[in-house]
Amino acid sequence: MFALTGIGHLVTNDETVGQGKLGVLHDAALVADDAGNISWVGKQYELASHFDGKPTDCGGRAVTPGFVDSHTHLVFAGDRALEFESRMQGKPYAAGGIKTTMAATRAASDDVLAANVARLANEALASGTTTIEVKSGYGLSVRDEARSLVAAKTATSETTFLGAHVVPPETNADDYVALVQGEMLDACKGNAKWIDVFCDRGAFDVDQARVILQTGAAAGLGMRIHANQLQQGGGVQLGVELGVASCDHCTHLSQQDIDALSGASATTVATLLPTAELCTRSPFPDARKLIDAGVTVALASDCNPGSSYTSSMPLVIALAVINMGMTCDEALWSATAGGAQALRRSDVGNLRVGSRADMVVLDAQSHIHLAYRPGVQQVRAVIRGGKTVVGTL
Ligand code: NIG
Ligand code: FE
Repeated sequence: MFALTGIGHLVTNDETVGQGKLGVLHDAALVADDAGNISWVGKQYELASHFDGKPTDCGGRAVTPGFVDSHTHLVFAGDRALEFESRMQGKPYAAGGIKTTMAATRAASDDVLAANVARLANEALASGTTTIEVKSGYGLSVRDEARSLVAAKTATSETTFLGAHVVPPETNADDYVALVQGEMLDACKGNAKWIDVFCDRGAFDVDQARVILQTGAAAGLGMRIHANQLQQGGGVQLGVELGVASCDHCTHLSQQDIDALSGASATTVATLLPTAELCTRSPFPDARKLIDAGVTVALASDCNPGSSYTSSMPLVIALAVINMGMTCDEALWSATAGGAQALRRSDVGNLRVGSRADMVVLDAQSHIHLAYRPGVQQVRAVIRGGKTVVGTL
C-alpha cells in the first residue's frame, strides 16, 4: 500500500470526484494498492479511515495523472542535427529525411537500438510520461522492422508497426506495399499492438494506406494513421471511415475533415503534435476549431530525430496553450486522458479508483504552471504503479 497526502491541487480527470472536466480536488490524498492501482481518492482529512501506514507528504504541491504520449518514434540510430541546422537556415522539411535515419538504423545492432529506446523512454519518464506509444518505421525491411519492434517492446506494450513510413530506396511503391502487408506484417505483428501508415505527400496515398491498414486490422492490429501533416489530403477522412483510434498530426484540415472527425459516429481521436510544427516551422493546427466542433483531441510529442526531437510533454502542453488556442485545462486533459483515449485505454490518463497509480508531482501550485512557465523543469517526482520512479518526495 502507498498513500500520498498534502496534495494542494489534484487533477483526477474524474468529474464525479472533483470540479470540472479535470475533476480537481484541493487538499487531497490518494491511496494505491499493492498491485499499483488507485484504491481511494478524496480529501486528506478522510485519509485516516482508508490508510493506516505513514503517507508520503506532497507539501501542498500539484499532482496530475502521468502524461500519456500516444505518438513517438523512439526506435532509431543516429540523429539529424545537420538537417535541423539547414532547415533553420530556410530548407523546407520533407518526408525524404526519414531515409537518412533508415540507413543509420539498419547499420545499428539490436543492442544499440534497444539502448536508444531505453534512453529516450527514460528521458520521457523524467518529464512525466508514464505511458508511451513507440513506433517502428526506420528499418523499412522485413528484418529491420521486425527487430525495431523487438526494441520497442522492451520499453512499452503500446508498440506500433509503421513499415509504411516511406518507400525505401531499393524498391518501388507497389512492391513495397505488397511487402508491408505480406511478409513484413507477418514478421512484425507478434510484437505490435497497432499498425500505422504515413499517408501524405512523399509517403503513401489514400488507396495504399487503406489496403495496408485493413490488412493490419485483419491480422489483429489496431489502426492509427499519420494524416494531413504536410498538406491537405484524404488521410483524415480515410481514418474516420476505417474507424482508426487516432488521426495524428491534422496540421492541414479542410472543413470536411473537421466534420468527419466530429461526426456522430466518429470514434477517432485527433492527435495534435505541436512540437513537430515548432521544429519544422509549420503552422500550428487549429485546436480551438477542432474542440469547438466537438472533436476529441489528444496531444503527443511525436519524438523522432527528424521533425520533433523532443520527448517533453510539458513543452507540448505549453505550445498547445500558447500557440493553439487550448485552455490550460484542455491541454492537460488532452495530454493525459486524451492520449489514453487515442490508445483506447481507460486505465491510464486519470486517477480514478481502479486506474493505474501513475502520476506526476509538480513543483507548482497547479497544472496551469505547465504552460505558464514554459521550458522550466517543474517535475518534482514521477510515480508509476504506486512507486516513485523519478525524484524524491
Ligand atoms: O511524425 N510524419 C512522419 N513521421 C515523422 C517524421 C519522421 C522523420 O522526419 O524522421 C513525423 O513527423
Ligand atoms: Fe510521427
